[in-house]
Amino acid sequence: MSMKADFSETFEGVTKLNELTEQDWQVLKEVVATTKDWGPAIAKRFYDQLYTYEPTAEILQAHERETREKSLLDWYEKLVSGEPGDSFWLDAWIVGLIHIRAGVPNFYMLGMVTSVKDAFAAKCRETFEPDLALRVSTSFSRIMDTVGAIIAEGYTSGIVGGMERVGLSAPLMDRMRGVIVTRAINSLRGGDSDP
Ligand code: HEM
Repeated sequence: MSMKADFSETFEGVTKLNELTEQDWQVLKEVVATTKDWGPAIAKRFYDQLYTYEPTAEILQAHERETREKSLLDWYEKLVSGEPGDSFWLDAWIVGLIHIRAGVPNFYMLGMVTSVKDAFAAKCRETFEPDLALRVSTSFSRIMDTVGAIIAEGYTSGIVGGMERVGLSAPLMDRMRGVIVTRAINSLRGGDSDP
């Protein structure tokens, strides 16, 4: 499958199941005058965490903090505007590929998706009355979860799909995958074979 087709299938599948709709963007749009101002604190907290945890600090060694923070802030502002533009989701997919190149595993990325959601929800609770806080943080969460799914799938598609796209036979890859994962499952569950 082409990468664009992989992307479309992922976007359609995740948003069908998590029920992300235009209404979620509308909710964010209504409060952007407030939520935009939270960007610098959220970006700082994000990189405080990543630059103080040794394994992620190591990945970020080659990257200037100021540039990374600015990039996250621009992305956050686009998201909370409620009008992120046509390329927002394809860009998230491309972040998955950029993360492969930068050596950023998905478990760190997904840890930070939760962290950003928590920070945003806390700000909502401090700022808005309870009903609005819940509505805004729920829409933000749904969008962040979709971002996480798309970055993760872009990453997987970049590696696994990439092998097929450079010419490895898809049926052969399927058979190899079947054998390898069966061995791994048996081994991890205490069977004989070694993954
Ligand atoms: C909520 C999770 C995350 C989001 C939404 C996110 C988003 C992004 C975005 C928007 C970019 C810029 C892509 C571009 O240049 O167009 C980027 C790049 C990058 N991210 Fe992430 N990221 C996340 C998690 C992480 C984590 C956990 C790390 C490190 C452990 C990380 C490390 C990097 C690095 C090093 C780059 C720059 C790569 C390069 O320019 O070569 N990211 N990310």
